[in-house]
Amino acid sequence: MPHPQTILVTGGAGFIGSHTVVELLQHGYRVIVLDNLSNSRIEVLDSIREISGQDFTFIQCDLTDSVSIANMLAPLTFDAVIHFAAFKAVGESVEQPLLYYRNNILGLLNLLETCRGKGVNNFVFSSSCSVYGDSVRLPIAEDTPLQPAQSPYANTKKIGEDILRDLSSSTDFSCIALRYFNPVGAHPSHLIGEYPIGTPLNLFPVVTQTGIGKRKEMHVFGTDYPTPDGSCVRDYIHVVDIAKAHVKALSRLMNGEQKKRFELFNLGTGKGLSVLQIIEAFQQYTGVPLPFTCVERRPGDIAQVYADTTLANTELGWTAERDLKEMILSAWAWEKSLQAKAVNAQ
Ligand code: WQD
Repeated sequence: MPHPQTILVTGGAGFIGSHTVVELLQHGYRVIVLDNLSNSRIEVLDSIREISGQDFTFIQCDLTDSVSIANMLAPLTFDAVIHFAAFKAVGESVEQPLLYYRNNILGLLNLLETCRGKGVNNFVFSSSCSVYGDSVRLPIAEDTPLQPAQSPYANTKKIGEDILRDLSSSTDFSCIALRYFNPVGAHPSHLIGEYPIGTPLNLFPVVTQTGIGKRKEMHVFGTDYPTPDGSCVRDYIHVVDIAKAHVKALSRLMNGEQKKRFELFNLGTGKGLSVLQIIEAFQQYTGVPLPFTCVERRPGDIAQVYADTTLANTELGWTAERDLKEMILSAWAWEKSLQAKAVNAQ
C-alpha cells in the first residue's frame, strides 16, 4: 500500500502514544490523534509537532460515548488504528473496577464498531505483560499459559485480547496485540516523557521525583521476595523502543506479512532488574542520592516478571536497543525539564 497512509492513534497524547506518534510521523505516516485528555495534557501535542516537524489532526473525544465517536470519525479516512486509550493504574482499577471495565472495554467496543462500519480492519492493540498474572514460567513467552489476572486493569487487557482474537477469527479483521513489560524513560529531546496527572505510583517517576526533591524519600515495597536481593524484578524497557515496535507491527499488518490474523508479541528486553538495582543504578548514573526506606509488600505485586522476546525479535525484526543507562538518564533529564517548566510557569 503506497504511503502516505493515515493512522488513527487513540490515546496519542499519552506516554507511549505520544512517543509512537513521533515515530509514525518520522516514518512518513499521516496521523490522527484521538484523546479525551483525561490522563494526558494538550501541550504534548505541540511537543510532538516540535520534535517531528510535522503536523497532524487532533480530535478530543471520549471512546465511551458511542454517538460522539461515530460522529467525530465519520468524516475522517484512515487506514489503520493503534489503540492506546485506556486507564492503566493497577491500584486504581482495584478500587474502581466498574470505571476500568466501562472505560477500557466499552471504549474498545465502540472503537471497533466504528472501524468495522468504516471498513478499517488493521488494528494494533496496546496490551500488557500483566495479562500473564503471576506466571510460573520465566522468562515469559507469548504461549505461556495465562494465570488469573491480578487486577481489573489486567483483566480488561485480557478481555480486550479475547474480543480482538474472536473478531479476527470470524471476519477479515487483522490485529497485532503488543504486550508491554515495564515502559520507562523519555524521548531524547526531553520534550515528551511520562507526564502523569496527579501523583504517579510507578517506580521510575517515583525515583526521579525523589531524586529531584519533589518527594522526601521513596519506599521499596518488599524486600522479602524470592529474588536475588529480595526486591521485585521487572523487565524495564525504553519507551522509544516500545514506540519503534509499533511502527514495525503496523508495517507487518499493512504489508500483509502476518502469519495469522491475530498475533501477539511481547515487548521487553528479556532482562530482569530488581527495585534495589534500579535505585543503585540511578545513583550511579546520575550521582544523585536516593533516600529510601524498605517497607512491607504492595498488594497485587508479583515477585518476578521478564520477557522471552524471541518472537518479536524474529517475526517483527525488532529488538530493544536502549540500555538501562539511557532509560535512567532520559527519565532524569525529563524530570529536570518538568521542573524547569514548573519554575518558568511561576
Ligand atoms: C515496579 C516495581 C513495585 C513504586 C505496572 C503496571 C503494568 C504495566 C507496567 C502497563 C514493583 C516497585 C514501585 C514505589 C516500589 N503497565 N515500586 N516503590 O506494577 O510492575 O507494572 O507497569 O501496561 O500493568 O502494573 O510497575 O512501576 O508500579 O512497580 O518499590 O514507590 O517497583 O512494588 O515491584 P508494575 P511499577
